Amino acid sequence: MALFHRSTHDIRRPSAQPAAQQPLTMRSTVADLWANPVGHDALTKILLQLGLGTVWVTNPVVRRLRLSQIKSIAGRHLDAGFFDALLALLNSQTDERPVDDEPATPPLESEKMPSPKPESLTDMAAEGRDDAHRPATTSVSPGTAARSPEEPSGDEPWWKRAVFYQIYPRSFKDSNGDGIGDLGGIVEKLDYLRDLGVDALWLSPIYDSPNDDNGYDIRDYRAIMAKFGTMADFDRLLAGAHERGMRLIMDLVVNHTSDEHQWFQQALRDPQGPYGDFYLFRDGTPDSPPNNWTSFFSGSAWRYFPEREQWGLHLFSSKQMDLNWDNPALRREVVDMVRWWLDKGVDGFRLDVINYISKQAELPDGDGTIAQLIGFNGIENYFYGPHLHEYLRQLRTEAFEPYDAFSVGETPGVGLDMAALLTGRDRHELDMVFNFDHLEMPGKTRFDDYRYDLDYLKHYLIDWATDYPSSCWMSLFYDNHDNPRWVSKVEPNGAYRTVLAKLLAVVQLTSRGTPFLFQGQELGMVNQRFSSIDDLRDIESINLFHELVAGGMSHTDAFAKVLAGTRDHARTPVQWTAGPHAGFSDVEPWISGDGDERDGWNAADEATNPGSVLAFYRTMTALRREHPALTDGTVAFVAPRRSHYFGYIRACDDERLFIECNLSRAPLRREPVPGGFTLLASTYDQLTLDGNLRPYEANVYQA
Ligand code: NOJ
Ligand code: CA
Repeated sequence: MALFHRSTHDIRRPSAQPAAQQPLTMRSTVADLWANPVGHDALTKILLQLGLGTVWVTNPVVRRLRLSQIKSIAGRHLDAGFFDALLALLNSQTDERPVDDEPATPPLESEKMPSPKPESLTDMAAEGRDDAHRPATTSVSPGTAARSPEEPSGDEPWWKRAVFYQIYPRSFKDSNGDGIGDLGGIVEKLDYLRDLGVDALWLSPIYDSPNDDNGYDIRDYRAIMAKFGTMADFDRLLAGAHERGMRLIMDLVVNHTSDEHQWFQQALRDPQGPYGDFYLFRDGTPDSPPNNWTSFFSGSAWRYFPEREQWGLHLFSSKQMDLNWDNPALRREVVDMVRWWLDKGVDGFRLDVINYISKQAELPDGDGTIAQLIGFNGIENYFYGPHLHEYLRQLRTEAFEPYDAFSVGETPGVGLDMAALLTGRDRHELDMVFNFDHLEMPGKTRFDDYRYDLDYLKHYLIDWATDYPSSCWMSLFYDNHDNPRWVSKVEPNGAYRTVLAKLLAVVQLTSRGTPFLFQGQELGMVNQRFSSIDDLRDIESINLFHELVAGGMSHTDAFAKVLAGTRDHARTPVQWTAGPHAGFSDVEPWISGDGDERDGWNAADEATNPGSVLAFYRTMTALRREHPALTDGTVAFVAPRRSHYFGYIRACDDERLFIECNLSRAPLRREPVPGGFTLLASTYDQLTLDGNLRPYEANVYQA
């Protein structure tokens, strides 16, 4: 069994029915912890960080161990503080896991192929009929015509069938020749996006900002960043998207604001005034911060403000000050602001680090062992805070629901059970969340240089498809603006680039859930060959580099470490043409890319090349639109334990589709596909009939 094999199907809690949540103590067993939603996710996270599979906590011997026994076995490795922190976290949450009203997934069809129909592809080939070899990609028509936003039948909301596309505006398209992407650039590309077949756009922040973290530090929630354009440009963009049948959602960054936001400036000037308590200030002498929490962007999470003779909390950069959500006046301001944008007609929001908004009231020190495991100090005190559900419900009932607006939460650190508590249909919190557990393999972090094994992704997808309650709905994504490119994660040297990019498209666009594409993914864009720290722009990367050097690492080693995980890999300009600056801008862009647009990796060339990654994405989004089984259907996995083989059946009343994938670069033997299947799409031009799937081969059949 591979190290990371997570065979959760046989080890989940005994019944899907929620058990009453008893307070956990040192006498509780591992099984008790595993039955608690927060305990389940915390243990899963710890195991992931240690590079271990869940079998470590689900085997009968370990299940019976009491926490007190584990403490004595672990000796000085796990002190009392660790157990206190763990129990405090687990007992802060008494909600039960949402109940399944129907099984999310039919029982696994282990080792079984879908039943054959009379005529097999092999027979067709034997008879010399060419059409058996030709992917029937022409049977679907990419969405070139304007579409009105589709309303799914019945009560299903639109976003369950949608394909989203994330735009990082700064890097998307420059329309006015200053080297920075802008709203005018997005407007120019609306037809491109419609033709790609996306249904909804998510814009990373476009609000007024001093750009310490490229717009995730907002100075004014009701104004557009001058470099991006004007409110009139935004209105034009929104109307243009709607005219083309696409919806548009905004980024909602309300865990923190810029230190240049008026609220913060007033809080500094007038601590007793209306904004004095909008942020998390604490007393302390200038040389000693109130607690040991660390920032995600290096160093302490505290900054001293002589104006108030107090420290202010910033989980991210020292210019991104955390808001105090325990203050009802702040929550009212957020609700008003959200409604203001919804009044303008936006269709929903992606909520930045939304699970961090509620902090433990006393802001206690973080536990050292947890910090060592997770890499940041203090996180257990805010990643799933005491009032999180309450604050989300307020936001939903007062802002989102009256407008029928969509919400997807970015929720780092949240696992499957916590996600279920955040998204259960009847809980009125969020529609979906982004979970990140698939992004790195167990025991790895983003800054480790390693090759990702897609078998791990397979087990992740199977676990979620099987265990996520049916009243919840899953988001599906690989690339985003915070991570290197997935194609490079799997094949860092660029081998199999086209076929691998297409395989990722197949998995993402035929799995059960809502896909989010990230700009450039549809072109097969890969990591960049930045040559020095001076090429990087991201505050996280730059701070980390300096922290590593200050800790004694050589410049070369520090740069190599940062290069493995820098977010700038995803932030280079979209490659539109083979011309100067990749057709992104007429002048030198704010961040430079590799130049591989000259080798055909650009939208213009790919649009006219039927074998390109872009052409394939168009085919796949069209396929998804034309086959309800891919959006509404159930999923059943075929031979789920066969290494690097990923087979599944998507089925609804009217049709069944069968998808088979080779998740590796080695040929993979598998049973021949039964007769009567029609090939709808393939990552290769021609089928072979020798019983092997070729490197990263993926085929979609109508069964
Ligand atoms: C998550 C965003 O995706 C990331 O880009 C940003 O730096 C942090 N939140 C802080 O807002
Ligand atoms: Ca510009």
